[in-house]
Amino acid sequence: MRSLSIFSKKSTTVQTPTALAPMQDVTGLPFMKIIALRGPPDLFFTEFFRVHANSRLDDAILRSITENPSDKPVFAQMIGEDLDDLIRTAKDLQRYPIAGVDLNLGCPAPRVYRKNVGGGLLRVPAKVDEILKVLRENVACPLSVKMRFGFEDDRHFENLLEILANHNVDLVSIHARTVLGGYRSSPDYKYVKQATLYLGCPVLLNGDVQTYGDASSLMDWSEASGVMIGRAAIRNPWIFRQIRENSENREVFIPKLTDVFVYATELFEALSIPNSDDRKTVGRMKKFLNFVGLSVDPEGSFLYAMRRTRTTKEMFEVLERFLLDNRRQDFALKPYFGLTARPSCEV
Ligand SMILES: Cc1cc2nc3c(=O)[nH]c(=O)nc-3n(C[C@H](O)[C@H](O)[C@H](O)COP(=O)(O)O)c2cc1C
Repeated sequence: MRSLSIFSKKSTTVQTPTALAPMQDVTGLPFMKIIALRGPPDLFFTEFFRVHANSRLDDAILRSITENPSDKPVFAQMIGEDLDDLIRTAKDLQRYPIAGVDLNLGCPAPRVYRKNVGGGLLRVPAKVDEILKVLRENVACPLSVKMRFGFEDDRHFENLLEILANHNVDLVSIHARTVLGGYRSSPDYKYVKQATLYLGCPVLLNGDVQTYGDASSLMDWSEASGVMIGRAAIRNPWIFRQIRENSENREVFIPKLTDVFVYATELFEALSIPNSDDRKTVGRMKKFLNFVGLSVDPEGSFLYAMRRTRTTKEMFEVLERFLLDNRRQDFALKPYFGLTARPSCEV
């Protein structure tokens, strides 16, 4: 049960193993379905299950496990710090068809890390040690950790690697930033390389992988076992297919703007809740289109117009104008220089 062959250090079956990064309010079942249609990653992670004294498994997140639209494995992510609550939740999760249990050691939201959960735990290696000890004892399937390389700097990184190794963690995903680096600092992939060389288990490189070319060069450089991709998969849901085609020396599919229109329409159908306020649907769509817009036009005119829409009618007028009037134009592989999806987070 504990083997994780697809991400073994030297996988012979998959050239560049990929994972969709867990993203709260994004990587639920609707988005998994949309990604699966365009070429799924080799591994999915759920959004985090909150773990505290009164927590119970969130039904909506559970559906991304029980109704997984692909044959690809799903790791269930937990965020919390209380040992008994984590054990209870890990046991509950193991009643479902999960590939493994993942512990969040990276969430940078101050309201989270101030409670010493998520990224806050990286300040207290002794607590990480206690948590992984009890999880290892109570998790029969693969146990994985998703972490940043430190809280404010790398002072505990080597100690944390030792702890991961001592508890025979089966998979480690490293977002190559500190917690205080948020989504702004430049990723430093040397920590991924250090973890790959030190740990006996597979390591996934995470942070700012924008294209299939980035995936290939960063994997070569870091010797990581695979790549985990978050925001670039919202922008370009074909990225896992492109990575696979590139690593198999096949022609890489380059979507046109008309393909992006179909993607936006599927998002709209997936995110609309019957009888709900139109403005809420528009708000949910904007979360995704803020990333998509980075590759539509170099001036950011699509982003500008899309952000000003208030109704789905206005939003579709903008989508049609930018995506269908230029339908044969390539969707840019990378974000255009100078555009930002979330100015309050990424600048
Ligand atoms: C909207 C959003 C929600 C996120 N939610 C989670 C989460 O629930 N659990 C987690 O471990 N990381 C979460 N992350 C972090 C991502 O998994 C990933 O580590 C980060 O975005 C860096 O990868 P990227 O540059 O490929 O996006 C989230 C990131 C974003 C942008």
